[in-house]
Amino acid sequence: MSDNLNKIIIAIDGHSSCGKSTVAKEIARKLNYIFIDSGAMYRAVTLYCLRHNLINNGIVNIPELRASLGKIKVSFRFNSETNHNDIWLNGENVEQEIRLLTVSQNVSPVAAVAEVRNLLVALQQEMGKSKGIVMDGRDIGTVVFPDAELKIFMTAQPDVRAKRRFDELTAKGEKVSYEEIRDNIIERDRYDETRQESPLRKAENAIVLDNSYMTREEQLDWVLDQVAEI
Ligand code: CDP
Repeated sequence: MSDNLNKIIIAIDGHSSCGKSTVAKEIARKLNYIFIDSGAMYRAVTLYCLRHNLINNGIVNIPELRASLGKIKVSFRFNSETNHNDIWLNGENVEQEIRLLTVSQNVSPVAAVAEVRNLLVALQQEMGKSKGIVMDGRDIGTVVFPDAELKIFMTAQPDVRAKRRFDELTAKGEKVSYEEIRDNIIERDRYDETRQESPLRKAENAIVLDNSYMTREEQLDWVLDQVAEI
């Protein structure tokens, strides 16, 4: 019997900056699964838009973006130094640059464009064909893998999330204020939850994980318990 028969798809959706990627990465390592950060793909397309002046004052030039989609190649490549699947945009490793606050501040309107979503969702579904995958994002349990065996909806209080993201960015040397990060998190959630295309919402059969007062170890154990039950 092939190993794949026992492998499942784990979909982790939820609010901005609540640690979805952290837990998804740890679960993937424990289970020897592939980890895919779908947000990185939307961020890479946003970086392309910023570099090519397709966004002005937060307004996306949608016709130009649609016309450019054929020129935007997004992929993951394994980085053996970090043991991580880095995101590449048109032959360039942009794993670091996509995390900048300017990208966070422009990504939601880009991610609301139907043609962008169609392109990236198709890539994501292809990556999950053989199962054994943990993917985090906003629409993984609702749109990308509606039949995922385990769906988790993660959240945490906005202040806790802002503090975590502030610590993460300042540790990397980025000069940002706590207030602008908090504003971005709240605005991004609002945008993601109210957009027409695949809005962020909890899939009916998703289990909620509020990690406001959980340590990394506690949340990892919590998810591993859910996997064990399947
Ligand atoms: O890590 P963080 O919570 O800051 O966000 P992310 O997962 O990197 O996602 C960045 C943005 O991409 C989100 O705010 C959404 O607008 C969009 N996104 C999406 O629309 N669908 C996904 N599956 C993943 C991200």
